[in-house]
Amino acid sequence: MTEKSLFGTTADGRQVFAYRLSNRNGVSATILDYGCTLQSVCIPLHGKTVDVCLGYDTVREYEQNDGYLGAIVGRYAGRIPKATLKLGEQVYPLCQNDGENHLHGGRIGFDKAIFDAELSEHAVCLSHVSPDGDEGYPAALSVRIVYTLTDDDVLTIRCEGVSNGTTVWNPTSHAYWNLNGHDSGSALDHTLCIPAERYVPTDDALIPLAGEAPVSDTPFDFRIPKTFRNALKTPCAQIRNGFDHSFVLSPGTIGLAGTRGIRIQITTDCKAVQLYTANFLSERIGKGGVRYAPHHAVCLETQSRQIGRDLIVPEESLLSANEMKSHTTAFRFLYR
Ligand code: BGC
Repeated sequence: MTEKSLFGTTADGRQVFAYRLSNRNGVSATILDYGCTLQSVCIPLHGKTVDVCLGYDTVREYEQNDGYLGAIVGRYAGRIPKATLKLGEQVYPLCQNDGENHLHGGRIGFDKAIFDAELSEHAVCLSHVSPDGDEGYPAALSVRIVYTLTDDDVLTIRCEGVSNGTTVWNPTSHAYWNLNGHDSGSALDHTLCIPAERYVPTDDALIPLAGEAPVSDTPFDFRIPKTFRNALKTPCAQIRNGFDHSFVLSPGTIGLAGTRGIRIQITTDCKAVQLYTANFLSERIGKGGVRYAPHHAVCLETQSRQIGRDLIVPEESLLSANEMKSHTTAFRFLYR
């Protein structure tokens, strides 16, 4: 079932709507047309409802706070070093919104756009056109983001993009998961499993160093499930205030489990996932007056491989004129 309701109004007077998808088991997901934001995911557990994703109750908080809570970030998720996009011989200066670098699509990325929405029985389809030159990116880019919730408790997010010229494209969902409930504090006791043999070490500005490195004998080895707290016990210069790194995915399922019986299994056709333990989630008030703070959630941002210091754009995030690219990530909720 899908329901539409008015969520609020932006500072400049535009209406923001919420779309609530729900299934026969009582699982629901609420998506805003503002930023294509996943505002809540509610799971029934022992007669109660647990909201497992961080967010806000008002448009104003989404407009004013940093952190991209629940948004689809883009055009390009992650950092582009020195805010310099190199496509063949052409160099495009992008908006510098993270020191000298470009982050998550710039100052006014997808997270700040109001998408056009179309509802169907189990899905909401959100579309948006980012104009040529938007935040410095070349070519006009049309995106469609489709959220679907099935009766077997799978929430899928499909991202489709087509442009009228060569450009880059790498959106992701920046959902902040806390499977014990968004109001339950630290998520460091969650258990994570990632089928990845390699991760991408970064410098202090979180820009990838040269190439990928093996996860073996490092805190980045999540091939066998472990808690963040345990992983963080192994000393490693790469760990600054938590995880904020890209993993190159092998076939398999990413698993995240809370301590109260809710788990997610994530499958994707993306080549990489950014693991971010909400290190920069400064103290703030979220939904229902709840206090959020660093490490209160985990983001698993499925996306393309990273652009490194050599500025080489991975082929999966290159779009040529009129070519359509898409990727899909499925989140299966398990609870008892
Ligand atoms: C990045 C972090 C960044 C955060 C912003 C994450 O995807 O990896 O470095 O600070 O987004 O919320």
